Amino acid sequence: MAAKKKEQQLFVCGQCGYESRKWLGRCPDCGQWDSLTEQQRPVAVSARRKVSTPESLSGPAGSDQDRLITGIGELDRVLGGGIVPGSMVLIGGDPGIGKSTLILQLLAALTGGERRVLYVTGEESIRQVRMRADRLQIDDEGIFVATENCVESIAAMAAEMSPALLAVDSIQTMFTEDVGSAPGSVTQVRESTARLLALAKSSDLPVLLIGHVTKDGAIAGPRVLEHMVDAVLYFEGDRGQMFRILRTVKNRFGSTNEIGVFEMKDTGLAEVDNPSALFLAERPVNVPGSVVMPSVEGTRPILVEVQALVSPSSLGTARRTAIGADPQRLALLTAVLEKKLGVTLFDHDIFLNIAGGIRIDEPALDLGVVVALLSSLFEKVVDPTTVVCGEVGLAGEIRAVGQMDMRLREADRLGFKTFLMPESSLRQLDGALSGSMNVIPVRTVGALVEQLFQG
Ligand code: TYD
Ligand code: MG
Repeated sequence: MAAKKKEQQLFVCGQCGYESRKWLGRCPDCGQWDSLTEQQRPVAVSARRKVSTPESLSGPAGSDQDRLITGIGELDRVLGGGIVPGSMVLIGGDPGIGKSTLILQLLAALTGGERRVLYVTGEESIRQVRMRADRLQIDDEGIFVATENCVESIAAMAAEMSPALLAVDSIQTMFTEDVGSAPGSVTQVRESTARLLALAKSSDLPVLLIGHVTKDGAIAGPRVLEHMVDAVLYFEGDRGQMFRILRTVKNRFGSTNEIGVFEMKDTGLAEVDNPSALFLAERPVNVPGSVVMPSVEGTRPILVEVQALVSPSSLGTARRTAIGADPQRLALLTAVLEKKLGVTLFDHDIFLNIAGGIRIDEPALDLGVVVALLSSLFEKVVDPTTVVCGEVGLAGEIRAVGQMDMRLREADRLGFKTFLMPESSLRQLDGALSGSMNVIPVRTVGALVEQLFQG
C-alpha cells in the first residue's frame, strides 16, 4: 500500500517545471532552492492518444493568405504577418501592462463585422469586460465573451460555436479536470495548455493565451510553456511611461526580435508609427553624457538616446547601474576603457540609462555606451546631430554590426548629419551612402576619442 502511494508521488519545480519522483531541496535543473512541491500525477496522455495518419511532405502547405490579418500593423508585423490557423500564441506581460486591452482591440479588429471570435476570461466578470470595451469604444456583435476556468468546457464551447479565434485570459486561471492541483500551479498550467494546444491543432483554431510574468521575467511558473506554444510575445514597458512594446521572443512562423510599439491612451492602445521621434522627444541637447544610437529591432530601426552619468564615488565600492542595457556589458566596456585609454573609472559611480524605458540588447549599443561614458567623464558634449553605433571588442577594437544601411537611412530621415561607425561596416554600405550624411569610420576606441573629444 505504502509502496503504491510512493509510486504515484510526483514533485514539480515551481520555477521551471522539472519533475522528480522524490522531494529535493534544490531543483537540479534550474538551481532554485525549495521550489519542488508535490503534485498529483497527470493522467497519462498516451492512454487517450488516437493514432494519426502520416502524410506526404509534398502536400499543400497552406499559404500566407490563410493567416488572419488583424489590420493593426504593429501587431501583424510582430506576429510575422498575421495569425496562422491552428497556431497557439502566448502573450506574456506584467499584471496591468495592458494585455487584456490589447486582446480586446485585436479581437475587435479581427471581427470586422463578419467573423465570430470567443474571448474567455477567468479573471474578470462579463461586466468588467464590457466596461473595458466601453472605454475602448468596442461594441462588436462578433465578439463573444465567456467567464470560464475549465478547459474542457472551453473546448466544448469552441466546438459549439466554432469561432475564428479563441482568446484565453489568462492561462494561470485555467484548469483541466484531469489534474487535481490548483489553477496556476505548474502541472495545471502545463496540462491546461496541452489540452488547448490539442484543440488548436485538431480544429485549426488559432488560440491566443495570456500569461502573467513573474518578477524575474519568466512566464509565471513554467518556462515549459514557451516550448509548447508556436509563438511567444512579451508585452512590456514601464508603467510610468505611456508607451508599450510588444516583443517576439519566439515565433515558428516569422522572425524573432521583431517589435511593435504602442502608446497607452485613455481610449486604449494606439500604434506608434514613428518610435524614433517618440524616444528622442525629450532629449537634452548640448549636455555631456548623452548620445543617440540607431538600433535595429527585427526589421525596424529605432533611434534611442543613451545616457551616462559618471561621477566620483563617495562609497568604498563604486556603483554600477544599467537601466535598459546589460550590466555585464557595461562592466566589460568600463574595463576596456580603463585598460585601453588609461582613464580611471574604478572610483567613479557609473549610471547608464536608455532613455524612455526601452531595453536594447544588441552589441551595436556598445559604441553608444562608450561615447556616453566618455562624454560624461570628460564633461564634453557630443554634437547633437551625431549618431554612433558599433560593437566594442576586448582589445578596444570597434567591430562591424549588421543592417548599417537601415540605421543610416533612419538617422538621415530624422535629420542627423554625422554617423560614426565601425570602419569594417563601410563595406556594407556601398551605394547606400546618402549624400547628406557624413560617415566617419573608426577602428579603435583610441581613434574614437581623437575623433570626438579632442580638439
Ligand atoms: P489591462 O488590459 O487590464 O492590463 P492586463 O490585462 O495586462 O492586466 O490594462 C491595465 C491598465 O491599462 C489599467 O491600469 C488602465 C490602463 N488603461 C488605459 O490607460 N487606457 C485604456 O483605454 C484601458 C482599457 C486601460
Ligand atoms: Mg488582464
